[in-house]
Amino acid sequence: MIAAASASAPGKVNLVLQVGQPDHSGYHQLFSVFDSVARREAVTITLSAPARSGNDHATAQAQTAAALAQAAQAQAQAVSGRPWWEEVEVTTTVQIDPATDKETEQELAHLDPAQHLAVRALKEVAQNSGSERSQQLQAKQIHARLEVVKTIPMAGGMAGGSADAAAALVAANAVLQAELDDEELHRLGRRLGADVPACLAGEVTVATGYGDQIQRSYRVPTHHWVFVLAHQGLSTPEVFRHFDSLELGRNELDTELSPSLEQALLGGQVAQLFQNDLQPVAAKRDDLKQTLQELSARALPAIISGSGPTIAVPAADAEAAHALAQEIRTWPTVAATLVTTSPSAPARLEWEK
Ligand code: C5P
Repeated sequence: MIAAASASAPGKVNLVLQVGQPDHSGYHQLFSVFDSVARREAVTITLSAPARSGNDHATAQAQTAAALAQAAQAQAQAVSGRPWWEEVEVTTTVQIDPATDKETEQELAHLDPAQHLAVRALKEVAQNSGSERSQQLQAKQIHARLEVVKTIPMAGGMAGGSADAAAALVAANAVLQAELDDEELHRLGRRLGADVPACLAGEVTVATGYGDQIQRSYRVPTHHWVFVLAHQGLSTPEVFRHFDSLELGRNELDTELSPSLEQALLGGQVAQLFQNDLQPVAAKRDDLKQTLQELSARALPAIISGSGPTIAVPAADAEAAHALAQEIRTWPTVAATLVTTSPSAPARLEWEK
């Protein structure tokens, strides 16, 4: 091993999500209040020397058949014409719902590494820094391996993929000795996904543009959540498309929080802010409609997170959150519940060696 670095980044729930009209790119102008949650994705990047030609040291030293096969495979990869980022190894550990984690890991094992947001983040950092390690990586003189630990529900409206990208940007910046500053990481993050800057920033942020322009950050007291997971995910592009077909886009968006909502936020009274323009679209799905009705019948405030389907329910404290989670988990429309808190720290380096 040459070097390794590990970083983490939080998922999010939108306390406010106002959606404007789509522009020429198909993307929408947004006014969003992101609340980072203490479910964080961890990305570890390890750089090592690749095995090389026939008289290569590693091949010469390989004693067993398994070691020989491994050396031959590494050698084949080193001389193949594929771009380096297609050869990045990615392994994923899922820690979301014990009933389905193993199955999800197996599905993820088949994903194309070149499409993985964490790999794309590593590629952005390597291509935008002149460091020696960045050059060596691109010349295939060193090899990169990524380990992702997922704790944020997938296709859930909680920016799990964007958190992978944010954590990978920070880990790559360290391991490649790229020395990119925060502004540059945000610029690269924006290219990977509209939510990536919010995952980099953590805390509670107000964002405009495509949701990628962070206008300001608030220090908000710790508050408690139950996240209610559905049996099936929702595709964000499809929810936006449906939203457009119903012509629901606003002509005018807020640009800042009103003083009274700001006061509620600073007091940790997050439910007072709840507003999600995508909710009527996501909640057309029968299971979500039913879960929201059950919550409303118990006078529990709730909001669909982003494009859904995860539903966020605030709780007074940790004890209340656990009791509520236990009850809601038994509902037939619910796959699992997660208890967590907000806000969470910005994306950060956890360790390097
Ligand atoms: O940027 P990201 O890849 O995370 O966005 C996922 C999808 O959400 C986009 O493909 C687009 O359909 C939709 N989106 C949008 N307007 C935004 C942000 C996202 O239409 N401001």
